[in-house]
Amino acid sequence: TDPLRLGIAGLGTVGVGTVKIIRQKANLLAARAGRPIQITAVSARTKDKDRGVNLSDYAWENDPVALAQRDDVDVFVELMGGSEGAAKDATEAAINAGKDVVTANKALLAHHGHELALSAEAAGRVIRFEAAVAGGIPVIKALSEGLAGNDITRVMGVMNGTCNYILTRMQSAGLPYAEVFEEANQLGYLEADPTLDVGGIDAGHKLSLLAAIAFGTQVNFDAVELEGIEKITIQDIHHAADMGYRIKLLGVCQMTGRGLEQRMSPCLVPDNSPLGQLEGGTNMCVLEGDNVEQIVLRGPGAGMGPTASAVMGDVMDIARGFRMPVFGRPAAELECAKPARAVMP
Ligand code: NAP
Ligand code: HSE
Repeated sequence: TDPLRLGIAGLGTVGVGTVKIIRQKANLLAARAGRPIQITAVSARTKDKDRGVNLSDYAWENDPVALAQRDDVDVFVELMGGSEGAAKDATEAAINAGKDVVTANKALLAHHGHELALSAEAAGRVIRFEAAVAGGIPVIKALSEGLAGNDITRVMGVMNGTCNYILTRMQSAGLPYAEVFEEANQLGYLEADPTLDVGGIDAGHKLSLLAAIAFGTQVNFDAVELEGIEKITIQDIHHAADMGYRIKLLGVCQMTGRGLEQRMSPCLVPDNSPLGQLEGGTNMCVLEGDNVEQIVLRGPGAGMGPTASAVMGDVMDIARGFRMPVFGRPAAELECAKPARAVMP
């Protein structure tokens, strides 16, 4: 059987995690997919860097666009990050060259997801992005496949591991912000620009993707009401605890009479609730539909293993021939409105 040949651009936390899974589980993956999963070429900014994994079996490309266009690549795996520049150029080049795309890049999709999805559809290719939302939790699969028989009424949750790690460690260990921030960095949670994390922007990107899938609208990140955790002090955390609450960066999206409302902001949640008990880099997604009522998904929201696990879920789907577009067809036709005011749970 023909192997599925991957070109991986980006060899940082997620890229190295993905290479490791493919190297360590080659036989298992081949058995499950019915065909071998092979890496043919890789790319990063710096060639001569010890990344803790053997890359000598793969062709090297300095330019991710060239990688995306290689004849021996079936699937372009974009793990560089950034909404513009190399990630966007190479993803577009891959689609134009007739490749499927797997990406963990929520910033790219929050800003350009609609156009990229339309381009992929026109080219008969798919763009898959399970790793872009909630790390190892297969929430996109749950929303777009498992809950396809529901009208989705609300999606909410904690979607940024860095913020949850910072907020919970400050409270439980009484550690200062700078120290827990560095711990999150060591765990591989942070975005290249960590202001995206603490500013709520990264979580807002994720919410906008889930909203588009859940409600069949175009991705509209500009419509997300955003507030980060930068202004939360240790005193705020202690005051909330005294009243029986925890502070969480919580996202909510729901369709109302005013249109699709999306909000990502710090909220008080009861200490003894499932959301209140969410520790460290863990994420939680609460999905509500007319038939299923409510389901709750909880798991690691960031870091090497969990995120690479989600990347591989998409790769395996493509290898098996499951090539449904994630944004449904209505995404091409429906607009969503800026909310008149925020709606909280
Ligand atoms: P990272 O550790 O900073 O790695 C980024 C990689 O991309 C590096 O190998 C870098 O090369 C390469 N790169 C950056 N710009 C490039 C360019 N212009 N040309 C070629 N290579 C370039 O980032 P990461 O944490 O793995 O995140 C990657 C993506 O996954 C991002 O979209 C991020 O938002 C997303 N994500 C991350 C996590 C997580 O927990 N870390 C979870 C979910 C999603 P050098 O190594 O040579 O500098
Ligand atoms: N920086 C992100 C987070 C990575 O902390 O959740 C996972 O998307």
